Amino acid sequence: MLYIGIDLGTSAVKLLLMDSEGTIRKIVSKEYPLNFPHPGWSEQNPEDWFTQSMAGLKELLEGEDKSQLAGISFGGQMHGLVILDKEDRVIRPAILWNDGRTIEETDYLNDQVGRAELEKYTANIAFAGFTAPKILWVRKHEPENFRKIAKIMLPKDYLAYCLTGNHCTDYSDASGMLLLDVEHRCWSTQMCDICGISTDLLPKLYESYEAVGTLKKAIAEELGVSEKVIVAAGGGDNASSAVGTGTVGEGKCNISLGTSGTLFISADHFVGTHGQNAVHSFAHADGAYHLMGCMLSAASCNKWWNEEILGTTDYSAEQMKIREDHLGENRVFFLPYLMGERSPLNDPLARGTFIGMSMDTSRADFSQAVLEGVAFGLRDSLEVARGLGIQVTRSTIVGGGAKSPLWTRMIASIMNLTLEIPRSVEGPSMGGAMLAAVACGAFQDVAEACQKIVKITGTVEPDPVLTQKYEERYQQFRQIYPAVRELFPKLQ
Ligand code: XUL
Repeated sequence: MLYIGIDLGTSAVKLLLMDSEGTIRKIVSKEYPLNFPHPGWSEQNPEDWFTQSMAGLKELLEGEDKSQLAGISFGGQMHGLVILDKEDRVIRPAILWNDGRTIEETDYLNDQVGRAELEKYTANIAFAGFTAPKILWVRKHEPENFRKIAKIMLPKDYLAYCLTGNHCTDYSDASGMLLLDVEHRCWSTQMCDICGISTDLLPKLYESYEAVGTLKKAIAEELGVSEKVIVAAGGGDNASSAVGTGTVGEGKCNISLGTSGTLFISADHFVGTHGQNAVHSFAHADGAYHLMGCMLSAASCNKWWNEEILGTTDYSAEQMKIREDHLGENRVFFLPYLMGERSPLNDPLARGTFIGMSMDTSRADFSQAVLEGVAFGLRDSLEVARGLGIQVTRSTIVGGGAKSPLWTRMIASIMNLTLEIPRSVEGPSMGGAMLAAVACGAFQDVAEACQKIVKITGTVEPDPVLTQKYEERYQQFRQIYPAVRELFPKLQ
């Protein structure tokens, strides 16, 4: 049988076709625009997601035995607010996970409602990118739109809705709304009251590996597949990525180096953050839980630096200019906060910063500082996890950035972790296909799917000399944000 995983990303949708043995048959990617209507805002049109996903599905299935397609599922960019009216029309563009417009609403939730209350209701505090503050923003700034809301959903759930007609979500993605009681896996009526919405507007909750329905007749006909194709709920992109790398069960770790950068630690039980809310406590796609730290700009910093500033798309040529003996010696530092920062700063107004240049600073020093700044940012989340008593010594790594040997070596040494490179670095789409296979009964559960499918093909060890040098640099990096943070609000 065949299974499709759809990774609904921020710059593109990536679709992956997998067979029952876990072999990837084909990958197709389709881009769509990302709009920044004001500095710090970030929006996309849900209709573009659907149009491009359908185009991708058709291309993916071309030349394949379509009668073998059994299931489809997802890994989706998290936290985005998608609202539909009673005629099922999209009311306004989706407000995305890296949108920083909700400073007032986030402060209201954290300071007026109170962090302790929020943690009691949801296991988390408010961050600007989460969904609940966005609902409050629409209520205040677009009351007409707010009144029209008949359905609230997350990005990948819009795709599931278009494909099946069912208004559904899964626990991992719902965790990032700040509307879910994560520990008890149900909607928080207190949070719905605070946001002025009824729970009827919210989707039905499923485990990520559960079927939410089958394809609508018209969709099945358009794709030339059976109406019996099962659609499974899928997960937030990080949870699906964790499935795709075998990060399930107690104490495993996955780093995702995509547009965002995440450190994902799986657990077989609920893990509270005990007031240490810089990392999120979310449900996992295997039915259990996880902790996660999220940087808003990771591989996107490297993309920005190369494409927008240096004017090149040849990232590896730029990395070749970085001298081996200069690793751990760079005096230039970069704060990677191009869209503000989530973990651990919770500061939507923070901005990218270069510091430490002198007359002998070269282009390569800047490129190196960008890669190192992202690695230091990931280390910040690791330090929070270590502070919670969680010992991590190994991690898988996936995402576009994981394809750079230099960057993975830096990360291994800066974080003092052994990095494992999986056979497939296509985290969320691979995880999505695996969740579809579980929903179709090809595997007993997510753990079995991981055990049978995920293979590690290489490791990157931390280099003891570099680790020591980078320790000193990291301690310097940590002092930069506190020294300049007061300036950021004045620079807006
Ligand atoms: C996680 C987060 C990002 C997005 C990126 O909390 O906001 O990783 O899911 O797609």
